[in-house]
Amino acid sequence: MRSVISILDLSTEELDKLIATAKDIIANPVKYQDKCAHKKLATLFFEPSTRTRLSFEAAMMELGGQVLGFSQASSSSASKGESMADTAKIVSCYADIMAIRHPREGAPFVASRNATVPVINAGDGGHNHPTQTLADLLTISRELGRLDNLTIGLCGDLKYGRTVHSLIEAMSRYPGVKFVLIAPEELKLPSYIRYNVLEKLGIPYEEISSLEEAMPQLDVLYMTRIQQERFEDLSVYERLKDSYVLNPEKMALAKEKMCVLHPLPRVNEISVKVDDDPRAAYFRQALNAKYMRMALILMLLEEAERNPQREELDETDLVYDLHCNNPKCISAVEQELPQVFRLTDKEAGIHRCIYCEQKA
Ligand code: NCD
Repeated sequence: MRSVISILDLSTEELDKLIATAKDIIANPVKYQDKCAHKKLATLFFEPSTRTRLSFEAAMMELGGQVLGFSQASSSSASKGESMADTAKIVSCYADIMAIRHPREGAPFVASRNATVPVINAGDGGHNHPTQTLADLLTISRELGRLDNLTIGLCGDLKYGRTVHSLIEAMSRYPGVKFVLIAPEELKLPSYIRYNVLEKLGIPYEEISSLEEAMPQLDVLYMTRIQQERFEDLSVYERLKDSYVLNPEKMALAKEKMCVLHPLPRVNEISVKVDDDPRAAYFRQALNAKYMRMALILMLLEEAERNPQREELDETDLVYDLHCNNPKCISAVEQELPQVFRLTDKEAGIHRCIYCEQKA
């Protein structure tokens, strides 16, 4: 039995297989309509969501399965102080698979170490959002016909944008990919992605502050929302919130064959005037999300049936005498969670928290 907490939990072959399954579901929906009959998906959403939760639920329903869950932390026992570990053990009694969204980084990972059914990370704080990436990959593949040899511009909140982090991790595995990072100084990509992924794998990237300047070279433009809820100082949010707005004038600078993605919700970073441009793929991307979640649920349930045993935690290079200083980490609020770090860079002696990946 396996969980998907990071996009790196899936190999490139598995990503390609999921895309192929999703395309087959689109072509032959009837073939899949009873595949998950008598199975239940629990959606545990401790943070607001429209697309992610509803597309997970629609995905399970279209596979003939059923859904249960909650859409806000206040209606769960977490509001009474129940730990993530206990919640995961309890939900395992009632559902065959669960999708968790949580404001705390590492919360779905903790759930996966305690659940006896597969856990899917549906977004944890500013950390990861692997199933959004699945939707992004299917969209790029359907819009442009390939996942390699692409110049991908990522614009907006690259610091807290969990969808951006997972997308970079996934796209870095395809040959010929180059990234253009377009962000204000305060919202630049976190160092663990920059060093662990881009630098380590030698992926070309450049940092540009002007969207206009970046436009002509892009095959994909991935816009993101500046996320008010992630800022500790709201005056910083106010200063940055209108940093980038995509409008028809900027679209006029782009290639004829390119696509604009956005995980949504948008606030004002894409003018509604762009919506009718054939290159605007964000609403199709939201539909693709449902098909990829169907493919993922199918894959994880089939695997759990073949092998119900939870995967062992890789104990290599774990250390227990460091402390995580990330205020958004699940370990900052759950006092009984052990502090666990992994030596991720032997040469530089860098340890990272196993929950949130921040440096010790
Ligand atoms: C994103 C998220 O929640 O991380 N939305 C989504 O899941 N489609 C992006 C966002 O909230 O801005």
